[in-house]
This record gives sequence, C-alpha cells and structure tokens, in this order.
Amino acid sequence: MSAIGPIGVFDSGYGGLTVLRALVDRLPGYDYLYLGDNARAPYGNRSYATIYQYTLQAVRWFFDQGCPLVILACNTASAKALRTIQQTDLPTLAPDNRVLGVIRPTAEIMGDHTRSKHVGVLATPGTVQSESYVLEMAKFFPDVRVHQQACPLWVPLIEQGEHEGSGADYFVQKDLKALFAQSSETDLVLLACTHYPLLEKKIRQFLPNGVELLTQGQIVADSLADYLNRHPEMEQRLGRSGEIRFYTTDEPAAFDRQAAAFYGHEIRSKHLPADQLIH
Ligand code: DGL
Repeated sequence: MSAIGPIGVFDSGYGGLTVLRALVDRLPGYDYLYLGDNARAPYGNRSYATIYQYTLQAVRWFFDQGCPLVILACNTASAKALRTIQQTDLPTLAPDNRVLGVIRPTAEIMGDHTRSKHVGVLATPGTVQSESYVLEMAKFFPDVRVHQQACPLWVPLIEQGEHEGSGADYFVQKDLKALFAQSSETDLVLLACTHYPLLEKKIRQFLPNGVELLTQGQIVADSLADYLNRHPEMEQRLGRSGEIRFYTTDEPAAFDRQAAAFYGHEIRSKHLPADQLIH
C-alpha cells in the first residue's frame, strides 16, 4: 500500500478552481493540491500532441508530490490526453495511482436532463474536435443528439478578466446563436469547459427560455464521492488534514487576484516554473 497524499486537481489555468470549489464543498476534510498551468494556457486551441505532453508533465508532477489520485479538471485535457495517460503511461508510471477526467461523469448524467433529446455542448475547439462528448453520450444515451459549438475566444476573455465586459456579450451571443442554429429543439446546454461558469450570468441572459444550463463542478464532485465509496483502497490513501495548496506556472500574485472569482475565496498560490515540469 502506497503512502498517503493529497488529491491532485489540474487545469490549464483557473477553470479547474470551479471544480475544486465543488470538490471541497462535497468532500471536505481531504487534502487537495491544485496546479494551474497558466503560463501555457489556454490549451483549447493547441494540438493534441502539445496538450498530451503538458498534461502528462503535470500528472508526473502530481505523482512526485505523492498524489495517489489526480483529477483532470479540464475538458480539453480530459478530451485529448486522459485516455492515452490511463492506457499507456499509468501502467508503467504508477499502476496503483488513478487519473480521472470530467467528461465521462458529465456524459453519464446529461441524458437525464433532456426531454427533447437534443443537447448542446459549448466547449473549446480542442474538446469539440475530439468529439469526446459525442462518443461518450453515444455509450450512455444513444437516442440523444449532441450539438457542439466551439467557443475559441471565451477562455482567453476569461483568463484576461474581460468576461464581464461588453466584448464578452458579443461573443457569447454569437456562439449561442450558432449552437441553436444547429437545432432549435435543444433544451439542455452544457458548459463543457471548466472556465465557463464565470460567464454563466451572461449566458443565462442570452439563453432561449426553457433551456436548462448545466455546469460541471457539482457533477464531478458527486461522481468522485461515488468513486471513493466504491474504491475504499483509494480512499484510504487520501490525506485528511484538510490542507489545500495551490500552484501556478505563471505569476502567483496575478493568479491570486483572479482566482477568487473562480474559487469563491481568496487564495495564496506558489510558483512552479513550467520548466520544472519537464523531466
Ligand atoms: N478549462 C479548460 C476546459 O475545461 C479549458 C481551458 C483552455 O482552453 O485552456 O476545457
């Protein structure tokens, strides 16, 4: 049995903090270690090879820090890197450790929220191109049609703190219009990027009446609680002193200023230069 350690939570930048918030609320008392790769964000417009390489570097770092379990709290990393890491890297790197993503737990429940059987997915270009939601939904809800819309500028707007401005209005309206042009029957829209909850108010403003909006934090937290119930051998390896630590590959002061909007509390992060992730 390996040593006890924190739950690792990874994102390209700030978005995973919306998931960490829900995890800490749902599973308080555990130790958490957060890493935002802000210096190399956004990931959403990058190639498969680059996203896989960056994500694997982060996973190795979490393992070096003693995390038995790592959550990729990023749809883009989950879409592009998770399967290869689980199937190819994990068996040699740390066969008893686990890396989980955010797409599967979301797909598992999404079909329960639609009557029309038409759902919309708003995500980064990387997540959309991967077709991960289409493929996962086909497994759990084969009768549900998935309409996807890439929103390439939403993460940059959010990372730059421009999400409350009128520039954001323009892009939110434009991408929602394109999503509903694919099907006017859509009655459920998923924010399939962990950054997007920051735009939730604006999105609701422009969403057609009667359409439900789903965010992922709660879904991922419920799914992890269920996973730990089913896997006591993993649960026993998780530290429980309630310590939460934050790292960013970019400037910690800038990270701390923005992070509160995602996490709901002030935080104090430390710097992990991205070159230290490269083994
Ligand atoms: N938060 C990430 C996600 O859920 C995306 C961010 C990015 O483009 O870097 O997809």
